[in-house]
Amino acid sequence: MGRHVPVLLDEVIRFLDPQPGDDFIDATVDGGGHALKILERITPTGRLCGVDRDETLLRALEERASTETFRPQLTLVQGNFRELATLAQGAGFGRVKGILMDLGMSSEQLEGSGRGFSLLRDEALDMRYDSSGETTTAAEIVNSWRRDELERLFRIYGEERHARRIAEAIVMSRRKHRIFRTTQLVELISRISRRTERIHPATRVFQALRIAVNDELDSLRAGLVQALGLLRSGGRLAVIGFHSLEDRIVKNTFRSAPPHYAVLTKKPIVPTVQEVLRNPRSRSAKLRVIERIEN
Ligand SMILES: C[S@@+](CC[C@H](N)C(=O)[O-])C[C@H]1O[C@@H](n2cnc3c(N)ncnc32)[C@H](O)[C@@H]1O
Repeated sequence: MGRHVPVLLDEVIRFLDPQPGDDFIDATVDGGGHALKILERITPTGRLCGVDRDETLLRALEERASTETFRPQLTLVQGNFRELATLAQGAGFGRVKGILMDLGMSSEQLEGSGRGFSLLRDEALDMRYDSSGETTTAAEIVNSWRRDELERLFRIYGEERHARRIAEAIVMSRRKHRIFRTTQLVELISRISRRTERIHPATRVFQALRIAVNDELDSLRAGLVQALGLLRSGGRLAVIGFHSLEDRIVKNTFRSAPPHYAVLTKKPIVPTVQEVLRNPRSRSAKLRVIERIEN
């Protein structure tokens, strides 16, 4: 299984410009692809607080970083970035030079978690980033939400054209057998919607379920506001989104930030052709950056 390849790494480093002694927060630290690069630059006295919802990923990073010289500069915290201020404060961090939010899921979760994020694997339909925190699984949504609720979910969070037909098919199918496995859902959707685009026909429904299970968009709205408040003067917040719903929230939050913040990316930064060829997962990434210009 390949480790998660950090997206827009050079661009993030250029904008966040980590210098020795700076304090940083990586609110979605995962395997540390971006965080370790930042740590290399802020040592020996700068500190990085790495937050993630997924305890398993944090434990793996802890293990990986254990022999690094910068280990004492790294603090790992399990939690949802919607509570970033409390999490940072609990870890002994005040206002910082930079914050990164690299949204969505990691390759580890997709390929190795066994939690049903991948439509190419036969796994239980779970999709929780944090199995101890979130109570609803994807299977519970699929088997208990009403037809119209499922339709709205797939249309709004998945921007799925066949939302109604897929919702109807789910409701029909679950009368006979409850839907517990990714493969059951993929088969059902593949019967309705053919692969006419570049993406697999079940991609949008999987995205919608993941967003709902983890309450991703509300977490993002709250997390952005918290992150803005944690920047010191001259500090920057960099956010990478992977679909239009995320990017719209980032763009609008930045635009409506108070006047002591300045948006540094009039247009979002996107990966180069070379990066997309090297790492196809990066193709939909959009980076936006904002700076706190005074206290
Ligand atoms: C795209 S990965 C980050 C990859 C990382 N920047 C790297 O290059 O190694 C996104 C991570 O964010 C985490 N995550 C998603 N929503 C979160 C939230 N609301 N709070 C904290 N972590 C979250 C996921 O568990 C996942 O590990």
